[in-house]
Amino acid sequence: MVLGLMVITAIPTVTGISLGVREQKKQNAEMANESRMVKFNLEVYCEAPEINGTMIVLRNDKVYVHPKNPTTNQPLPSPTTGRAPHPFTGFYIQYPDEERSPTRGLVSTISNDPPMLNWIYCDKDTHELKYGNRTQSREHIIGEWDWTKDEVGLTLEGWEGFVAVEEEPGQWALYYDRNNDNLRGLARPRGKRKLQCSLERKILPEEMQNKDK
Ligand SMILES: *[C@@H]1O[C@H](CO)[C@@H](O)[C@H](O)[C@H]1NC(C)=O
Ligand SMILES: *[C@@H]1O[C@H](CO)[C@@H](O)[C@H](O)[C@H]1NC(C)=O
Ligand SMILES: *[C@@H]1O[C@H](CO)[C@@H](O)[C@H](O)[C@H]1NC(C)=O
Repeated sequence: MVLGLMVITAIPTVTGISLGVREQKKQNAEMANESRMVKFNLEVYCEAPEINGTMIVLRNDKVYVHPKNPTTNQPLPSPTTGRAPHPFTGFYIQYPDEERSPTRGLVSTISNDPPMLNWIYCDKDTHELKYGNRTQSREHIIGEWDWTKDEVGLTLEGWEGFVAVEEEPGQWALYYDRNNDNLRGLARPRGKRKLQCSLERKILPEEMQNKDK
């Protein structure tokens, strides 16, 4: 794969200068842990039937909730464009940045042809979830991404604080409720419907795992 951006070069260069030996060892074990690099899609679990069972897609630099075809588990074509958006298809990997302590990042393909990876991050000002290259993501919240104990639920900064916001009728964008106050005080979600949700990892079948790596 032409790793459009950064990920491959990032793998061998994670030796932060200021790391202690123990931390370094832990980081190396983490980097070598293939289970972190298993690829998955993300399904939405929500008390509200409206978006329960939808999936996470990427378009226009932002992360959205989108209906999926239950047979193929792929996004349905969008009624406005007639085209299906690109589904989140990603895995965990160390964010390459010597100026921050080791942080587990999250990447996703953003297109299949050419295959390209971007970082998933939370905008530090608006708390919208977005995707972008290292330059775009670096000043924002780029992790720590993790999974719940059962390895099913996606977490950011240790919890499943995700909220879908109906920005336009039927268009649900994903936010991170960093202050745990249901996005109070943020401009864009004001007056819009908000639904708390969790994001469940749906591991891709074996034959899809190495497709772009
Ligand atoms: C790799 O990750 C799995 C799943 O979290 C964990 O059970 C295992 O202990 C990890 N292995 C290493 C070497 O860190
Ligand atoms: C959400 O959908 C799942 C299947 O995707 C179903 O098992 C669950 O009961 C649904 N939950 C609600 C609250 O509708
Ligand atoms: C990152 O993305 C921005 C916006 O698309 C672009 O202007 C910039 O050249 C990209 N940087 C790198 C290093 O690819």
